[in-house]
Amino acid sequence: MATNTSESSRTIAVIPGDGVGMEVTREAMGIASAAASREGCRLEMNWLDWGCDHFLRTGAMMPPDALDTLSSHDAIYLGCIGDAARVPDHVSLQLLLSIRKGFDQYINLRPVYLYDGVTSPLRDVKPGGIDLVVVRENVEGEYARIGGRFKPGTPEEIALQTAVFTRKGTERTMRYAFELSRRRRKLAGRGSFVGMVTSCTKSNALNYSMVFWDEVYRQVAADYNDIRQDSAMVDALSMWLVKNPGSFDVIVASNLFGDIITDLAAMLQGGMGFAAGGNINPERVHPSMFEPIHGSAPRYTGQGVVNPVAAIEAARMMLEHLRLETAARCIRRALQDVLSEGVVRTRDMGGSASTGDMGRAILERLQGGRAEG
Ligand code: IPM
Ligand code: MN
Repeated sequence: MATNTSESSRTIAVIPGDGVGMEVTREAMGIASAAASREGCRLEMNWLDWGCDHFLRTGAMMPPDALDTLSSHDAIYLGCIGDAARVPDHVSLQLLLSIRKGFDQYINLRPVYLYDGVTSPLRDVKPGGIDLVVVRENVEGEYARIGGRFKPGTPEEIALQTAVFTRKGTERTMRYAFELSRRRRKLAGRGSFVGMVTSCTKSNALNYSMVFWDEVYRQVAADYNDIRQDSAMVDALSMWLVKNPGSFDVIVASNLFGDIITDLAAMLQGGMGFAAGGNINPERVHPSMFEPIHGSAPRYTGQGVVNPVAAIEAARMMLEHLRLETAARCIRRALQDVLSEGVVRTRDMGGSASTGDMGRAILERLQGGRAEG
C-alpha cells in the first residue's frame, strides 16, 4: 500500500456500487470532505463505477486488476452492492467478499449505538443505553468457500460447506476484541466502566469448531486480566441482546454468527439506516474498507428516501481509521445534534425528509459547529 505520508491529504477509492449506493455515498463523501478540510486535510477521491452494471457490461463486477487499483489508496469506501433481479447475489457479492479476503481485512468492526432522537423498538432503552461493538471475524470461518456439490440434480445430491477456523485467524480476532475493550474503557474515562469481551459461541452443538473457539478465547483472555470474560451461545446471546442490550461492551463472533447478530443489533439501534461497519486490516499493510451494512435497496433506488446516516457513520469510522480524529468527532457531533433535534427525519424515522435533506442538515451543522469540544 502506497501510504500517503503527507498529513495534508488522503486517497480514497470510492465504490458507490448499486441501487441506493450512489445516493448515500454522495452525502457521506460530501460530509467526509468537509470534515477533513476542517482538519486541514484534503480527501482525494477516486470514484469507481464497479458493480452490477459493470458486470452486465463486461462479465465481471470489477476489472481483473481491481485489487491492484485499490491497493494504492489509503482507504476504500463502499456504498452497497447487489441487484438480485439482474445479477444473482452470490455472484455480485463476491466483489465485497473478495476485497475483504484479498486485503486480509480480517476484522469486521460494527459499532452499535442508540442515538438520542432515534427510536429503538425496545420500549425501555434510553439514548446511549445501547453502546456496544461487535468484532466479527471477516475472512474465514463459515465464509471460507470450501465445499462442493455432489451428484447434482439426483436424489442422492449432497452439498457440503465447510467452516474453517485457524488458530491464527481466531486468536488475532480475539486479541483485537480485548484490545478494543481496553481502548473503550480508557475513552470512557470513568472508574465505573468495566471492559468486557463476550464470546459468541455454539460449543454445545459444534463440537470441533466452537470448542476450539472457546479454548482460544480462554487462552487470549488470560492475557487480559483487566477485562471481564463472558461467553454465551449465539442463540442465548440473541435473546440477551434484546432483553438487556446495555449489558454488552465488546462481542467477538465468527463470520456467520457476527453477520446474523449485527442485523439484529442494527434493528435495536433504530434500523439499517443507522448501522455501519469497517472491514479492517489492523496492520495497515492493505487499505481497510468502510460501508453502511444495509443492502442496495433496489426498490427505493432513485427515490431519495433512504436514510444516509449509516453511510455517514461509515465515513466517520473511515476518518477515524485514517487518524483524522478531529474530523471524525465533528461528524459525530453534527450527527448527534441533528438526530436529537428531531426536525429532519427520514422515512424510516417516521418523517418525510429525503436522503439529501438529511445529508445537508448534517453538513450544515458540521460547517457551523465547533471543531473541538
Ligand atoms: C454483510 C452482508 C454480507 C455478509 C453479504 C452481502 C455477503 O450481509 O456485510 O453483513 O454476509 O457479510
Ligand atoms: Mn449481513
